[in-house]
Formats: sequence, C-alpha cells, structure tokens
Amino acid sequence: MKRSQKLAYKREFEASKKDGKPFFPYAVAHDLIVATATLGVVIAFAVIFRVEIGEPVNPATTDFVPRPEWYFFFLFELLKIFEGEDALTPVIMATFIVPNLLMVLLIIWPFIDRGPERRIWRRPVSVVTAIVVIFMLAYLTEEGANSPGGAVAADELEIPGIENFPEAEAGFELYLLNGCASCHMINGVGAPGPGPDLSKEGEKGRTDEWQIGHLKNPPEFVPGSSMPAFTNFTDQQYQELAVFLNGLGTDFN
Ligand code: HEC
Repeated sequence: MKRSQKLAYKREFEASKKDGKPFFPYAVAHDLIVATATLGVVIAFAVIFRVEIGEPVNPATTDFVPRPEWYFFFLFELLKIFEGEDALTPVIMATFIVPNLLMVLLIIWPFIDRGPERRIWRRPVSVVTAIVVIFMLAYLTEEGANSPGGAVAADELEIPGIENFPEAEAGFELYLLNGCASCHMINGVGAPGPGPDLSKEGEKGRTDEWQIGHLKNPPEFVPGSSMPAFTNFTDQQYQELAVFLNGLGTDFN
C-alpha cells in the first residue's frame, strides 16, 4: 500500500469511527436478531414442509452403491483423478492434500494480495483465478454426477456383440451400477469371488423367471446362497438383467 493511500485510509477510518456506533451492543444486537430470525425460518420450514422418512437402514446390504451428495461430487471426482496403482494415494491426495492446500491458500490470500484496489476490473489476476476455480468446481461436479459409482467402469469390461441387444445392454448397465462386479467376474473383469464367474451364465439354461426369482431371493433358488437379495429394481429392470445374464456366452460373449 502506498503512503498516501495509507494516510487516506486512516483519515477515513477516524471519520467513520467518530459518527459510528460501538460494536457492543449495536452490532451484537443486530447479529442476534438476524440469527434468531434465520433459525426461526429454518424451524418454520421444518414444521411446514415435512421431510419424508425413507425405508429403515439395512447395515448388512451389499447392493447399495454409495454415492455422495451432489455438493461433494467434485471431491468424489477428484478421487478418480488421482486413481493409481495403490488404493491410498487417491484418498490422501483428494481428501487431505488438495482440499487443505486450497484452504491454506484462502487463509493466506489476504497476506499475499495486499493491494488496496477494490474494483474488480482492476484486479485481473484475482478475477481470472476465481473464474478458473469456479469453472473447475463446476466441471468436476458435473463429471462426478455422471460417473458410475460401481466397482467396474463400463470401458474396462467389454462384451462383444451385446450392442445388438438393447434390453441386454440396459441389463449390463444395471450390472455395472449395482456392484455385481464386486462379487462376480465376466470376461476376466471383476472380482474372482465369492460369486461364480458369469461369462457363460447363459449356457446354464436358466429361464428369465429363474434369474428374476434368484435376484429377488437367492436362497430360494440356490439353497444356502450367500448372494444378497436385490429387491429394489422395477419389473422392467429385472427383465433387462435376466436377458443380460441369459445372453452371456450364448447371444453375446
Ligand atoms: C456379495 C456378493 C454378491 C453380489 C454383490 C452379487 N452376487 Fe450374484 N452370486 C453371489 C454368490 C455367492 C453366488 C452363488 C450362490 C448363488 O448362486 O446364489 C451368486 C450367484 C449368482 C448367479 C448364478 C446363478 C446360477 O446359478 O445360475 C447369478 C446369475 C448372479 N449371481 C447374478 C448377480 C447379479 C446380476 C448381481 C448384481 C445385481 C449379483 N449377482 C450380485 C454373490 C454375489
């Protein structure tokens, strides 16, 4: 800050101090009123617009695909950017290093940018930085919103010939999105167990009804089965999964 600017600021400060009101009790009273009113509005909203309570939580479920709330999608996506050989690096980078670097930057920013200028068109570096950061957050949020949360990404698992069967393709999508690949393997992609390799599931000659029944309640069809029941699909989705499963190794490979 230049000397003349400093003096001008001091003069302005003295002048405002003379006819201003002290922090206590005036500003404190203001804050108290606004905070109480805000809280009142929140309570009123909670009473008027009741939030629906969903199904009871089942801690043993394995068909639940965890996905963050939308305002965490950028962090969710950040995890994928740092995806590498080991499992720990993305977690450390995306949940600790990068966010904390940004927070530290925010805290020290007033000490870096000491210019007295307030008009935004005179501050091109700050404005461009802000726009770039906001754009990056928006971009990562958008990417995170559209990326599947399942164990296998669609581009890793290829099933040649499935593109000729739209219903099976929809079932394939459900397979990828619902964590099936965390217990099953198809064409070498997925988990080696505890579920069997499904690459040739179609050759077993199961009917679609059998597949749908098995998805809804595995032990009824395979005594002692440890596969979790999938009870939340629509009739159409069960059908799509059945067509997909019964086409594996027969209609497509
Ligand atoms: C927690 C692990 C697990 C998950 C998740 C899982 N399965 Fe299974 N699955 C198993 C096990 C264990 C078996 C063997 C017992 C059985 O057949 O029920 C099995 C068997 C199967 C079979 C073979 C049935 C047969 O004998 O022909 C099919 C098909 C199948 N699963 C499809 C799916 C689909 C589709 C999903 C996702 C919607 C899925 N599984 C998710 C564990 C799992």
